[in-house]
Amino acid sequence: IRHLLSGADLDAGTATLVLDTAAEMATVAGREVKKLPALRGRTVVNLFYEDSTRTRISFEAAAKRLSADVINFSAKGSSVAKGESLKDTALTLQAMGADAVVVRHPASGAPHRLAEWVDGSVVNAGDGTHEHPTQALLDAYTMRSRLGRLDGLHVAIVGDVLHSRVARSNVLLLSTLGAKVTLVGPPTLIPVDIAAALAPGTDVCYDLDAVLPDVDVVMMLRVQRERMGDSYFPSAREYARRYGLDGPRMRRLPGHAIVMHPGPMNRGMEITPEVADSPRSTIVEQVANGVSVRMAVLYLLLGGNNR
Ligand code: CP
Repeated sequence: IRHLLSGADLDAGTATLVLDTAAEMATVAGREVKKLPALRGRTVVNLFYEDSTRTRISFEAAAKRLSADVINFSAKGSSVAKGESLKDTALTLQAMGADAVVVRHPASGAPHRLAEWVDGSVVNAGDGTHEHPTQALLDAYTMRSRLGRLDGLHVAIVGDVLHSRVARSNVLLLSTLGAKVTLVGPPTLIPVDIAAALAPGTDVCYDLDAVLPDVDVVMMLRVQRERMGDSYFPSAREYARRYGLDGPRMRRLPGHAIVMHPGPMNRGMEITPEVADSPRSTIVEQVANGVSVRMAVLYLLLGGNNR
């Protein structure tokens, strides 16, 4: 594939190739010489119109470990602040010879438009409430490395599904890879038809306590207060009481089950510190795996040494 815009861009074979390549890339991180020459002479542009810590830094680390030249572009402080359009910005980057553009944008669909305007590969690093496919890949990688497989796993994705690009991409990718997903949260935050529309076989449950004893993975989502009005979210305390993962709830999980969160977390709302910092939590591991997975994505999209 030329671009990575959606979890739906990956069939099972391609997704497994990315995960296997990421496992090879992870061995580079353990070596004395951490760099590979695979993308020497190629240019990767990180084009971020929205804030990010993990995704932006890990794409930068990934590109540098593959010896690519990296240009970090933040909308703040650029000519975007003077009103320059996404298209004109894209054409400017194109003129500077970008081989890949990694884009985060508040508008759902912006990476798809960008892909029409530039010759290089476009990677969606999160577009509005739509998709975040490399997050889904690093989540799948983390599940596979902790639990040994993806096929047949039962994954609960819990919380603010409505505003979550992480949830969307995970539902698409996990169903492709044979996992079963149950979406859990208040009815106001789970759109009526989202489960069936994204992937047939995806369930919805409004009772977290009923789901916990039956899952291999519980993935907590950040409550995105900045994207919602009061109608969605009457009270933080009530939300935490019904849908927050605390110590007693964590102890209802099967012994082997893991707890995930894409970050950034609202500690004390969707997850308590006791759970986030427990041995079951893979939150820090997810961040580390993100570098290997993004190395694999850039390597495969840009053809590695085969140009
Ligand atoms: N998980 C994630 O996308 O985090 P950032 O917003 O920090 O990139």
